[in-house]
Amino acid sequence: MKSFYITTAIDYVNGSPHLGHAYEKVLTDVIARFRRQMGDRVHFLTGTDEHGQKVQQSARARGIAPQQYVDEVSGEFRALLPQLNISNDDFIRTTEERHKRVVRQLLQQLFDKGEIYLAEYKGFYSTRQEQFLQEKDRQPDGSWPEIFGEVTEITETNYFFKLQRYQEWLVDFLAKHDDFIFPRYRQKQVLEFLKEPLNDLCISRPRERLEWGIPLPFDEKYVTYVWFDALVNYYSAVADRPGFWPADFHVIGKDILLPPHAVYWPIMLHALGLPLPKALLVHGWWSVNGVKMSKSTGNFIVPGDYTGEFGVDALRYFLVREMNVGQDSDFTRAQFLVRYNSELANNFGNLVNRTLNMTNRFGGGIVPAAGPTEETEQELQALWEKTRGEVIPLCEGFQFHTALEKTFGFITATNAYIEKRAPWKLGKSAEPKDQALLRTSLATMAEALRLAAALLQAVMPATTEKINAVLGYTPGPVWREELTWGTKLTGAKVAEALVLFPRPAPAK
Ligand code: MSP
Repeated sequence: MKSFYITTAIDYVNGSPHLGHAYEKVLTDVIARFRRQMGDRVHFLTGTDEHGQKVQQSARARGIAPQQYVDEVSGEFRALLPQLNISNDDFIRTTEERHKRVVRQLLQQLFDKGEIYLAEYKGFYSTRQEQFLQEKDRQPDGSWPEIFGEVTEITETNYFFKLQRYQEWLVDFLAKHDDFIFPRYRQKQVLEFLKEPLNDLCISRPRERLEWGIPLPFDEKYVTYVWFDALVNYYSAVADRPGFWPADFHVIGKDILLPPHAVYWPIMLHALGLPLPKALLVHGWWSVNGVKMSKSTGNFIVPGDYTGEFGVDALRYFLVREMNVGQDSDFTRAQFLVRYNSELANNFGNLVNRTLNMTNRFGGGIVPAAGPTEETEQELQALWEKTRGEVIPLCEGFQFHTALEKTFGFITATNAYIEKRAPWKLGKSAEPKDQALLRTSLATMAEALRLAAALLQAVMPATTEKINAVLGYTPGPVWREELTWGTKLTGAKVAEALVLFPRPAPAK
């Protein structure tokens, strides 16, 4: 079986999880579930990024030890996963021994190979924030913002990783692998970025300034700084599980492509003689009501608020339907309600209600064998063939929003089919022809519902499971075989009713 190793970014633990974190998990989960359905042996990793200055500061501000602080916040991120029905196989924390061990091992290897050297680092340092500042932190008039307090130029001895010597190699690699980064235009941005010379990367901080990190194996007076620690998680999590490395996809947000994932990580791996990940999948950012998400401005969406009010699949559906992977999107409650009401409650929910209702009223609760079909049925079946044929390649290309649009087009067509056949009229006629058509229509709508649910399984796994249950149906082990229009439901005993998407209170 082909192995498919997919990862999310690991989240910083200096704040609670929000919609952006939730989106990345859901997107990656949809891909992981889709690949499993397609028969791959999937390994899905997520986790938390727990070292660094900010964590040390946040813990201090609360007067607790960093370890206690990261245990708490990492726990919140871990709790988000079942809330979103995420099917991850592993959860890594950078404070775990299995991770620290590998980071130290890799650092030592690079040091032994002469890829790491000691040099003076000169920069503007904020004592209040305990961090080096960058030119971009300056105000337009050249002064430093108030929050940094006193800023002084200091010189510090640190360890550097020889990034620059690999610049040409990286440009060459990207030129040869033009599908390394999805969407493709992001790869062009990386090549553009690489037109400027790279600096070697400072990978350490003196322990007297930053205690909360992994000590360098070759100099315990220093800890390793930020990216060297964080990026290695993808590898450390599978270091002793043969067959998974290299990763197939790292799913990340656009803010951490350049330089960490597109420059540092490939060069680190190359310098170590390790295979590179096959690809990076870069998603865009969610804003809320047109504004960047931030706790202070109050437009901070807590995923649990939506899963609590509307159910986990409503949120999963919205996030995947609304966002064109790679682009940015805006989250508003109004738009959420539009999709919830018209697509989920009215369109999809209605199909479920009608199918159960009609089968109970006119079929004694049993899905009948279809009688002869006519053009109306054949048209719906042809639409199904077309939809299935389009949706799978769309999912393979991460075009999930369009895949959902097409699937819902089929659901709309099935509802229209029911209107046209009007089983409630056929049910009143004693004509054998009408009775045969009634059986055909009941079988057709049930089969169409079963198929639509199968196609929605990766995005709405809980809903799909409920639908199969009320249809009295247990799917077989091979997903693709579930997508064939047939007679799998003939004789199935359906449930009385299922309310999937109850109507919410009107928009606030
Ligand atoms: N710890 C680093 C990543 C290290 S990966 C080796 C980090 N953490 S983060 O918590 O700030 O972000 C985690 C992920 O969430 C990133 O991929 C980031 O792009 C994503 N998002 C954070 N806010 C987001 C939105 N508003 N919208 C979509 N995704 C966003 O970066």
